[in-house]
Amino acid sequence: MLIHEFRYKGSDLYCEGVKLADLVDEVGTPCYVYSYKTFIEHFERLKKAFGSIQPLICYSMKACSNLALVRALVKKGAGLDIVSGGELFRAKKALCRGEKVVFAGVGKSDGEIRKALEVGVLLFNVESESELNAIQRIASSLKKRTSAALRLNPNIGAGGHAYTTTGGYLSKFGIDFETAQTLFLKRYRWPDVHLCGVHVHIGSQILETRPFVEALKRTLKFIEKIRLRGVKIQYLDFGGGLGIIYDRERAQSPADYAQGLVPFFRKSKCKIILEPGRFISGNSGVFLTKVQYVKPTAKKRFIIVDGAMNDLVRPALYGSFHDIFPVRRNGQARKILADVVGPVCESGDFLAKDRRLPEVNEGEYLAVLSAGAYGFSMSSNYNSRPRAAEVLVKGSRFYVIRRRELLNDLVRGERIPAFLR
Ligand SMILES: Cc1ncc(COP(=O)(O)O)c(C=O)c1O
Repeated sequence: MLIHEFRYKGSDLYCEGVKLADLVDEVGTPCYVYSYKTFIEHFERLKKAFGSIQPLICYSMKACSNLALVRALVKKGAGLDIVSGGELFRAKKALCRGEKVVFAGVGKSDGEIRKALEVGVLLFNVESESELNAIQRIASSLKKRTSAALRLNPNIGAGGHAYTTTGGYLSKFGIDFETAQTLFLKRYRWPDVHLCGVHVHIGSQILETRPFVEALKRTLKFIEKIRLRGVKIQYLDFGGGLGIIYDRERAQSPADYAQGLVPFFRKSKCKIILEPGRFISGNSGVFLTKVQYVKPTAKKRFIIVDGAMNDLVRPALYGSFHDIFPVRRNGQARKILADVVGPVCESGDFLAKDRRLPEVNEGEYLAVLSAGAYGFSMSSNYNSRPRAAEVLVKGSRFYVIRRRELLNDLVRGERIPAFLR
């Protein structure tokens, strides 16, 4: 069931109690708008579904890492799943305690490992033997100890797109069971790394419970096997991946998801960690953009908007579908077939292709729905476009939680050497 707080009242699209046309008048476009209520409710729904086992829910910051949103979840008791030193920096700014942070990623640098050891993260989710060596070397030099989980690759891939499928032996992620067993058995080689957990994340935008259950069954078998060899496994971090509704998907509810997994989680006798990203932020955000020009051609009609692939790359990168609604209905009942495209110099720069939309005029605004996950966080300055503003709506008030970038932000840190002056 699609649950969010973006609805029409009369002709106007609202986020909670805020008329988006009013918001746009003040903030301009392009911008991202997030509903606080939707964001928090998704976290609470997941928490409730798993209430019987009280997992640590570590929001996966990569989905949408604005400090205000991250802080909102931290205040509600969430932990954080990070994948870089930058996300660790944000986690600290959002006042998340180290013992609620899990650190994933195949290529952690020495600097990132050092910082995470200093902060005292709950778990490093380790992806290779070389990474274990690096953590041991740095921990020993800092006279610190840490806990770690091995990220397993259960050879099950699932997800909305090949690029978001992270299980399967052709993926760079995780460690196969045999290698993982060898590493657990020689764990004393890393005396400052307490190897006491397993981590699994098989992909993103997964709509059914089956691949999760299958991956979990294999993981459980693995845990049982290495426990028999004397290895103590305390944590089972089962990653994220829960799919959401963008179009007409039939996504599993948190209750279905929990029902499928909880029996196995119980059996594991581990502290369970979950890392949802998209499920919490995806339907909580929309991307607002203005129609600059309408360009009919012999073959196609293009609606050229001021938002582009640099702001929301999912359609270009994954061919993703995002529903598009007018911010104010203009009374035209007729629907027309059009491509919604941005100003970036790439043919891949589109937000929708061959889409039937209500006829829109130049100067009107469109809302691109379900843009809260992997939207702003994947945005860039390509074509030297300042990044969009981000706005948080709570009730009938809204707050600019990231100001629109200025031209000077584009060249921040750049230098012209003396010989070119
Ligand atoms: C290790 C890990 N955990 C959690 C997530 C979040 O996934 P999702 O947004 O699909 O819940 C990701 C996403 O790529 C990930 O790589």
